[in-house]
Amino acid sequence: MRYALTKETAADAADIETLMDLAFGPGRHSRNVVRFRDQRAPMPQFCFVAKKSKEMVASIRFWPVCLPDGQVVPLLGPLAVRPELRGLGIGRGLVRKGMDAVRLSGAPAILIIGDPGYYAPFGFRVEPVRELDMGGPVVPLALMGIEYEDGSLSRQSGTVTPVPIT
Ligand SMILES: CC(C)(COP(=O)(O)OP(=O)(O)OC[C@H]1O[C@@H](n2cnc3c(N)ncnc32)[C@H](O)[C@@H]1OP(=O)(O)O)[C@@H](O)C(=O)NCCC(=O)NCCS
Repeated sequence: MRYALTKETAADAADIETLMDLAFGPGRHSRNVVRFRDQRAPMPQFCFVAKKSKEMVASIRFWPVCLPDGQVVPLLGPLAVRPELRGLGIGRGLVRKGMDAVRLSGAPAILIIGDPGYYAPFGFRVEPVRELDMGGPVVPLALMGIEYEDGSLSRQSGTVTPVPIT
């Protein structure tokens, strides 16, 4: 199937909300991770959508979060693909595209609350974030991270917090 991966624009916002409702259901607004996103904007330079014949079919976003030392890093997610188009590599394509954009930006690391079965092949591991927590439950998923700067995650301990509201 042919699809295009492009930067998210303001015009995509409503379609992304619809897609996330479809993918995560009505309970999505009560998850712990929502605290990190409420009243805060995603990092637009890392957010991409997949479009098939100009129709949006998948989205990946990254939100800024604060490490215990105050450094801001992107938290990957949410990632969602329209149910009828899953298993075609669109999710993987979006994860690679977003991770490349983060790495090229010079960011020291990425965090994710996700399923290790899906994210480990991209290099996400629980080891660098063993001493970090998200200030609330993440199960049945796991907190994982990837470092582009050695020690940027693994030398820290404590709670990851939402960035201040500006
Ligand atoms: C998870 C999701 C984004 C994957 O998108 P996708 O386009 O179907 O993924 P891809 O086609 O790139 O990859 C499919 C592969 O990932 C595997 N996979 C999908 N979800 C998985 C999971 N939770 N754990 C482990 N593997 C998973 C599939 O079995 C498939 O494996 P295969 O290639 O060996 O057959 C999509 O299923 C989705 O939107 N799910 C609902 C929302 C969600 O759970 N988002 C992730 C939050 S952490």
